[in-house]
Amino acid sequence: MNEMTPTSAERAEKLQGMGCKRKRVEDIRFVQGKGNYVDDIKLPGMLYGDFTRSPHAHARVKKIDTTKAAAVPGVVAVITAETLKTVNLAWMPTLAGDVQMVLADGKVVFQNQEVAFVIAEDRYTAADAAELVEVEYEALQCNVDPLKAMAANAPVIREDVKDKKEGAHGPRKHYNHVFNWQAGDKAAADAAFAKADVTIKEMIVYPRVHPCPLETCQCVASFDKIKGELTLWGTFQAPHVIRTVGSLISKIPEHKIHVIAPDIGGGFGNKVGAYPGYICAIVASIVTGRPVKWVEDRIENLSTTAFARDFYMETEIAATKDGKVTGLRCYTVADHGAFDACANATKWPAGLFSIISGSYDIPAAHVSVDGVYTNKAPGGVAYRCSFRVTEAAYAIERAMDIMAQKLRMDPVEFRMKNLIRREQFPYTSAFGWVYDSGDYQTALNKAVETVGYKKLRVEQKKQQEAFKRGETRELMGIGVAFFTEIVGAGPSRNCDILGIAMFDSAEIRIHPTGTGICRLGTKSQGQGHETTYAQIIATELGLPADNIMVEEGNTDTAPYGLGTYGSRSTPVSGAATAMACRKIKAKAQMIAAYMLEVHDDDLEWDVDRFRLKGNPERFKTMTELAWAAYHEVPPGMEPGLEAINYYDPPNFTFPFGAYICVVDVDVDTGSTKVRRFYALDDCGTRINPMIIEGQIHGGLTEAFGIAMGQEIHYDEDGNVTTASLMDYFLPTAVETPKWETDWTTTPSPHHPIGAKGVGESPNVGGVPCFSNAVNDAFGFLGSTNIPMPHDNWRTWTAAENLGLHK
Ligand code: CDP
Repeated sequence: MNEMTPTSAERAEKLQGMGCKRKRVEDIRFVQGKGNYVDDIKLPGMLYGDFTRSPHAHARVKKIDTTKAAAVPGVVAVITAETLKTVNLAWMPTLAGDVQMVLADGKVVFQNQEVAFVIAEDRYTAADAAELVEVEYEALQCNVDPLKAMAANAPVIREDVKDKKEGAHGPRKHYNHVFNWQAGDKAAADAAFAKADVTIKEMIVYPRVHPCPLETCQCVASFDKIKGELTLWGTFQAPHVIRTVGSLISKIPEHKIHVIAPDIGGGFGNKVGAYPGYICAIVASIVTGRPVKWVEDRIENLSTTAFARDFYMETEIAATKDGKVTGLRCYTVADHGAFDACANATKWPAGLFSIISGSYDIPAAHVSVDGVYTNKAPGGVAYRCSFRVTEAAYAIERAMDIMAQKLRMDPVEFRMKNLIRREQFPYTSAFGWVYDSGDYQTALNKAVETVGYKKLRVEQKKQQEAFKRGETRELMGIGVAFFTEIVGAGPSRNCDILGIAMFDSAEIRIHPTGTGICRLGTKSQGQGHETTYAQIIATELGLPADNIMVEEGNTDTAPYGLGTYGSRSTPVSGAATAMACRKIKAKAQMIAAYMLEVHDDDLEWDVDRFRLKGNPERFKTMTELAWAAYHEVPPGMEPGLEAINYYDPPNFTFPFGAYICVVDVDVDTGSTKVRRFYALDDCGTRINPMIIEGQIHGGLTEAFGIAMGQEIHYDEDGNVTTASLMDYFLPTAVETPKWETDWTTTPSPHHPIGAKGVGESPNVGGVPCFSNAVNDAFGFLGSTNIPMPHDNWRTWTAAENLGLHK
């Protein structure tokens, strides 16, 4: 080799493959304001739709008069449930096996529910006319408290299913009951509690929150009557699912529906399901023969589309007196709002909640979840979470702290004692999940060392003494959380959506000049997929990442996929991408062998080429092989260089992390300052460390928002009191703390490149870490469980309840 010839390492670096902090290619258009979002789409003759919504949370609809609205100049049509009934679309199926009103049919069951849809020449006319739709209501008693939903005299929320004894997930025990779902071994868990030295039982509440993406939900529907084809642009996290569900609901043949998800400004679970706005825009386009755009405003987004959490988790831990956890029980009431529109894998009404044993080796455990109807908006989505993992992580991490406090053990020491040990992987939990890989002690040790945990505890002790002496009004809290996620839905044996197995796909075409395109069934909402999938291909195929275009969000061109949510893109489509590359590589190897006149077994792969074993001077680069694939393939071989892979993962992946947070709480104002937040994440093989860091910063910021202030709150009459950003806390750069990030790398043994998902980890681990920190600040005064969100008012109230203001 002459000195000028680049080494393998130099060639590898030029590819910008896995492990490289490649700059995000999508940012070139985003930072110049050249993104193409749904609201950028303008079609000739396009109309605009807007909703008339219910001011009541629960009321009978006696009469709807659309005359005044229809008479407004510029209004083209007004649609009500009666119109929708003519096309059998007054109600729609939900992903959870329930049905949901598209427009109010006889009654309204939550505030701001859609009552009529006004279609006009422009948005302002539609909005003004929507105000003129006259609705006569008869108010009904309402209930927004899930713990009262199954009381004997609770108001009947769903008259359509009142007498149904069976729901989509088995027997119902009350007219407001949706389902009961259980996992684990109840007898074993009860036996562990009977024998325990120490037990704790605490109601741990994860309030209703909302993903609140910057861009609200929206669509443009355009029906071509001549061809019988529907084109639907929308903010869809799962475009193919929208196409299939759209076909089933509308009866338009699936091949005549084109779903396009252009650039999306954040999803976080909010854009997985189907909303009345989509149905109404489609029907409006069919009725008027013109394209129709529907765009939610902020209040509509926060108060009507896809809430998250709302889990009331009575959590119990059993332990020996020296701190070994022996049992776990959790009884949860899940508030599903007025319709069960949860976006879960179909067989899992409480999602993956049975990951609640977390990172700990707990021999016996049982959970039971009752879903109930209330007069609140439907949803139940995984807000930066994998199907209720966040709720599970919050329950176990708060409960572990409460138990440590009872045992008078340090929370780190207590966790260390119970963490699953490295040699136990693959580890089967008491709920039957097989955790693929982990090295928890190393991660927690690294976290503890890096933040100087022992010193912090010494400082805290001193401050507590000073507080008792009246020398300071500030309390220092140290929060610890160790979480395990379950992401990558999913193995088809576990997961499906309405019967469609949860696999995912990638199709790669390499062009003659050695560039190419990769099309996928996932859809980025800001995660940088165009950058990172190309990095996987660069490493697998030895072609520069810059030579690969990544395209998502078009059901006409992409192979069928189940979309992006629950951090599934890397575990599932990342694997499909690698597997498609390997098919291409195998073909390229045959072509190389033919060109070099050797047996393909005599070749070995070296970064970007196949070379002859023992004679590295004889090689064919992948770029040369791409040309040859269209030019001189071996006799009998098909020309071209492309492959498609549908990947059904053998298991989920189980990322984990150790987080530590330090807060200073002013007991007189309740104000809480985050002094430090350290996050160590392990997501297996890291594709792009810069993007991972960005994902963690974003997820921690959302976790900070949730833990410290977010709540979709209802008053007793069912009014949403937090439906705008004046009242719903969305942290800006001003409030957001500084994040310290770190990592360990424990590859997944079953994933082709060893990668696990990461996008949601910081939200899953961050929320309990903040909450544990605030609780820790007050713990030495005997307080055990201050509920979220930890805004100034609630923290001040906690101090008041402890008598600190006397
Ligand atoms: O499904 P979603 O894209 O939301 O989540 P993800 O699979 O965790 O990926 C989020 C982003 O982080 C993507 O751009 C991934 O390529 C990147 N990532 C990475 O660089 N390395 C990993 N091990 C996991 C994700």
